[in-house]
Amino acid sequence: MPDPTPHRNPTWPPSGVIIAPSLLAADFARLGDAVADVAADGADWLHLDIMDGHFVPNLSFGPQVLKALRGGSALPFDVHLMISPADSYIPGFAEAGADHVIVHAEAGPHLHRSLQLVRSLGKRAGVALNPGTPAEAIASVLDMADLVLVMTVNPGFGGQAFLHSQLEKVRQVRAMIGGRPIALEVDGGITPETAPLAIEAGAGVLVAGTAVFGAQDPAAAIAAMRGAA
Ligand code: DX5
Ligand code: ZN
Repeated sequence: MPDPTPHRNPTWPPSGVIIAPSLLAADFARLGDAVADVAADGADWLHLDIMDGHFVPNLSFGPQVLKALRGGSALPFDVHLMISPADSYIPGFAEAGADHVIVHAEAGPHLHRSLQLVRSLGKRAGVALNPGTPAEAIASVLDMADLVLVMTVNPGFGGQAFLHSQLEKVRQVRAMIGGRPIALEVDGGITPETAPLAIEAGAGVLVAGTAVFGAQDPAAAIAAMRGAA
């Protein structure tokens, strides 16, 4: 299929370490400025956590917020849907400006259909795995995925401790991906201390909320997680 956003994502999967700050940890009273700041600080993507109060025990924001931020940012929008069922919301997030739409393997009985829907809308399709879900759960949909997200905390909240038990799953998914053009992302508890562990296990995209937006020096934190500091 044609590249949906050639101006933002020239190659896939991206090379090097990608840092995707999670907006969940930003100051919600000044979201537009927070997005501009984090781009200037070296973020590669913006990670947007969508929570429905049902699949996860928390609520966040919807496509209207994406749309409002989209005009002011050239960063790829990496949209993590913690929604069950997700399918009826996918077109709204695609229209609002998502570049990647990630659905959870646990969110419904028709994961393959959800990924097909995302791709049919010209967006990159991602599949996420909760800590309690084995890597094998995505074996049958790998050819439908552009991105796999391994949760390294239980989804629902920022600021939780990294689950080291998930590193083995990152290794397994990296081996399953083989030569496919799939980005491997980790999400939750990523800090300058845990980032090297995730990278060593095979992750190429690091989501970080608290470690970026809660840092005294977000640019230094991003550089440290990238391994450039
Ligand atoms: C959790 C979200 C994460 C979260 C990460 O459900 O998917 O993206 O914002 O936050 P930190 O980096 O603080 O663990
Ligand atoms: Zn997330």
